[in-house]
Amino acid sequence: MSEYVDDDRTTPRFRVNRKAMVEPQVFAEERGKIFNHSWLYLGHETELRKPNDFITRNVGGRPVVFTRDAKGEIRVWINSCPHRGATLCREPQGNGKFMTCMYHGWSFSNRGELVSIPDDASYGENFIRPGLAAPPHVDSYRGFVFVSFDPDIVDLTTYLAGATEYIDLVADQSLAGMEVLPGSHEYSVKANWKLLLENSYDAYHTTSAHQRYLTMVLAARGALDPKALGETRAVDLGNGHAVTAGASTTAGLFGRPLSDEGERQREQRLASFREAYGDAWVDRMQGARNLVIFPNLVIIDLVMGVIIRKIDPVSPDYMEVSSWQLVPPDETPELRKQRLDNFLTFWGPGGLATPDDVEALESCQRAFASSVELPWSDISRGMHKPVPAATDEFQMRTWWRQWNEILTGEVLPPEPHEPLDGTFIGRRNDTAVESRA
Ligand code: FES
Ligand code: FE2
Repeated sequence: MSEYVDDDRTTPRFRVNRKAMVEPQVFAEERGKIFNHSWLYLGHETELRKPNDFITRNVGGRPVVFTRDAKGEIRVWINSCPHRGATLCREPQGNGKFMTCMYHGWSFSNRGELVSIPDDASYGENFIRPGLAAPPHVDSYRGFVFVSFDPDIVDLTTYLAGATEYIDLVADQSLAGMEVLPGSHEYSVKANWKLLLENSYDAYHTTSAHQRYLTMVLAARGALDPKALGETRAVDLGNGHAVTAGASTTAGLFGRPLSDEGERQREQRLASFREAYGDAWVDRMQGARNLVIFPNLVIIDLVMGVIIRKIDPVSPDYMEVSSWQLVPPDETPELRKQRLDNFLTFWGPGGLATPDDVEALESCQRAFASSVELPWSDISRGMHKPVPAATDEFQMRTWWRQWNEILTGEVLPPEPHEPLDGTFIGRRNDTAVESRA
């Protein structure tokens, strides 16, 4: 048992010490041991549509410029001037080949070269012109761009491990390639960043915390079939990543109903996917999934839309959250309308669900002021079950075991559960994809 995690397999019981959510020293260790040695999500390739597009963003506590150079290649630069440190690119986004520092006017190209210095002659003949600094690794998987500040990290696909299959289930939802819509939701929560990670694949809280949303859906649909949730399964994907996946019967549970014509359009899209990928894969695609890629990327696909959520710790009791919508560019106006409606009504910071989560998390954090008197949070749900469901807490234990191993060196064995079966193992028919291409 470590200072932070009590993983008792006999009872069984799993507890996390609330010190992990409040202590500045834990926060500093997370920055040093986790964020400096993981692959961290930066953005999606489709956010940079044209050559010379750029976006400034924070990743792992560093300011970076995420850009596409004139030749179309993705580049990531540390957003600090090599001269004396000023922020180089001060705009949130735009299009431009050069960045000029506001402090003394040094200019850099988006390929990282220093191209001009005011009063150049005051530097000696042998002066070495510094280029921009870059993270040691930048790579992408199916359009999702990640960076790592660890020069010795494993390659991205190895790091993502079993999570690649679930990214595929999302990325395959358009034969034209999925894209991120311009614009994002940006909000902050006065709570430890790990609480939102837990919340992002916690199906247990849905009926109690999100009654307002469910009441709205009930009113719009006339009925809510309790069986519509179907079979769900929490899956350990390796390296701290986990997913809660729902079988295809989850289709249509959430959101306002489509018209008959909208349903027909949806069926038509699914038929084209069946032809391309085969039934087994499309049955899975139709289901729901809440995926957490360690440490701080969330991808949620709950039929009503796909969101990408990046969670940035700022201090032990404060986080910043960015979320984007990943959409098929080739869907009909009605399907797009439903998707946008769902994005706002459920996921939006002013929607019918996110404020509930924010309040729940902030109330936990406020109560952690009593973490000496009440030190442990319980995350044991479903630990004894052969098959853990989305409403259990296996997915969170998976994340915490990885966190605990990185912070304390204590290696906890994986939790034994029955192998995956049924709708959770269908594969993509790649032959069909190749013959189409
Ligand atoms: Fe950028 Fe001096 S700090 S030019
Ligand atoms: Fe929630």
